[in-house]
Amino acid sequence: MRLKARSDGPLKGRVRPPGDKSISHRAIILGALAHGETVVEGLLEAEDVQNTAKAARLFGANVVQGEDNLWRVTGAGSLTQPAETIDCGNSGTAARLLIGAASAFPISARFDGDASLRKRPMNRVIAPLSQMGARFDSPNNRMPLIVHGGKLKGITYRSPVASAQVKSAALLAGLGAEGETVVIEPERSRDHTERMLAVFGADVDQIDIDGVLHPRVRPSTLKGARVYVPADPSSAAFPAAAALIVGKSEVVIEDVLINPLRLGLYETMLEMGAKLTFKERRDPIGEPIADLVINASELTGVSPPLKRAPSMIDEFPILTVLAAFADGETRITGAGELRVKESDRITLMVEGLRACGVEVEELDDGLVVHGRGPKGVRGGAEIRTLGDHRVAMSFLVMGLASKEPIIVDDAHMIATSFPDFANFMAGIGARIEDV
Ligand code: S3P
Repeated sequence: MRLKARSDGPLKGRVRPPGDKSISHRAIILGALAHGETVVEGLLEAEDVQNTAKAARLFGANVVQGEDNLWRVTGAGSLTQPAETIDCGNSGTAARLLIGAASAFPISARFDGDASLRKRPMNRVIAPLSQMGARFDSPNNRMPLIVHGGKLKGITYRSPVASAQVKSAALLAGLGAEGETVVIEPERSRDHTERMLAVFGADVDQIDIDGVLHPRVRPSTLKGARVYVPADPSSAAFPAAAALIVGKSEVVIEDVLINPLRLGLYETMLEMGAKLTFKERRDPIGEPIADLVINASELTGVSPPLKRAPSMIDEFPILTVLAAFADGETRITGAGELRVKESDRITLMVEGLRACGVEVEELDDGLVVHGRGPKGVRGGAEIRTLGDHRVAMSFLVMGLASKEPIIVDDAHMIATSFPDFANFMAGIGARIEDV
């Protein structure tokens, strides 16, 4: 499925993006691990999360989509031997968190994924889980792999990468390990697992090591809970960016998760000169939420600090689009993790930006975008996405403000994180259509 985006006047209106993907995966996984019923309101009904729901069923949980935007997960307090391979599709989060959770039980589970997930590194979870006592059949440390779980012991794991998936895999395994499990990261990654574990009654806290707090879990029995899923700030990034670069736009994006460990892009937007305000802040669920008000803005290039990378790791593709419209240079470094996402996002963004007439330099761990500022972006290209949802959405947003329309070669993977993206964007006046 190819999609084309073209400019068509200012974007206006109020919208509520779909539920947060990270929180949705965790709600189902913790629900499956817990005793009793978990009721999830506003779950992201996208392919990645559907794969986690299917996996939870194969591990013995009852997962049903009810009426009124509610999903119900009934767990038995443990994961049971799955009768089939757990197919994680395109989702690294499903794969890494479920491998961690499965490790704690005396079962053998085979995991697989699509062509993109089969290329992504799994040694980053195999290493800590093996230290805890899990065993793996995993040629090349990639999918497909089999995990043999049970009889784990807790560890203090110094992760070489700031990755919430790695941290969560170890913490979920730690729920069933003897002793305590602590994860030390080079920079803090998103903490939804820790926050939600507390809501489910786990023995989780933070330990001070050399003046820095790190998450710790001890063996725990979880109890089903009620979870509310706010709008995903990583999905909100696309209408927000579009409102900034399409002249005279004013858009309100409602009910957005504003966990500080997810806000790197929004901090960077403000540094670029974005007219962006957070209104109606609230915290009903142990996760902060706000409405974002965004007006079209003249942007200036920036160099986000290295330590901000984990809090905007999924937002670099759309940041490079903002950078193309900004005046001056934007230098992104410390973002080597982008090469092992759903695609090599550095290579693909560089290629696509160049095709749209933007001057870019590729670095090992990032890129430098020479913003076009008042000169504007030409566009007028067909973009190769290699089935990467965020690359596709980024170039469609670019097409809304470039002089000539932009086509993305394959938009079907957008459904992994943002179902109905084109219609959603049409709700604020954007023209994105099939070609
Ligand atoms: C996620 C963590 C991040 C992010 C991914 C979702 C999560 O991955 O890129 O989209 O829900 O834990 P890493 O842990 O690999 O950085």
